[in-house]
Amino acid sequence: MKCRVGILISGRGSNMASLLAAAAQPHYPASVALVLSNRADAAGLETARAQGVPAEAVDHRPFRGDRAAHEEELLRRLAAAGVEYVCLAGYMRVLTRHFIGRFAGRMLNIHPSLLPAFPGLDTHARALAAGCTLHGCSVHLVTEELDGGPILAQAAVPVLPGDDEVALAARVLVQEHRLYPLALRRLIEGEAAWAAADAALLNPLPAG
Ligand code: GRF
Repeated sequence: MKCRVGILISGRGSNMASLLAAAAQPHYPASVALVLSNRADAAGLETARAQGVPAEAVDHRPFRGDRAAHEEELLRRLAAAGVEYVCLAGYMRVLTRHFIGRFAGRMLNIHPSLLPAFPGLDTHARALAAGCTLHGCSVHLVTEELDGGPILAQAAVPVLPGDDEVALAARVLVQEHRLYPLALRRLIEGEAAWAAADAALLNPLPAG
């Protein structure tokens, strides 16, 4: 029986697509039950629908800054789809403690840097500006600390002479697409139980 995974996106959805491709393999331990986006124009929604995967937009703007109410709607839809694990894949909104607690130890994020270096935005530009010769991507459990939860898997790429942000991002993205399905499999199959337990300790289930 495959685990039911929900994917949260805000845009292109290429990491989502790599998870969908993995999930389509018979022996992969996850199926994608639902894709949610906070933006109706996220290209990834169409990619998912074209593969027969339910994909819905829950625009945050009508909630007028009520982050909790927007998240409640996401949680309602994830629960209705029977989602057990959540993968953030370019989801551009910071989640509250409440949401994170609901999926503590069962929610992953992919980040385009070798964490703990360069949490946050503009990672490729910052790696270039810092003169890094090595850069890459990380998949980690989500905790309240932005891009700071236990790291499950990382992939490194060289920074080559003449690289600009675009070239470097493209080299990292190839590795992101390899890494995310691998890390999700590790988590589901219990190979990362230590990291899931750490994340749950850092973000206990909210009361009530
Ligand atoms: C990726 O670089 C991911 O690491 C970051 O946002 C980007 C999303 O790209 N969190 P895509 O939507 O998966 O193509």
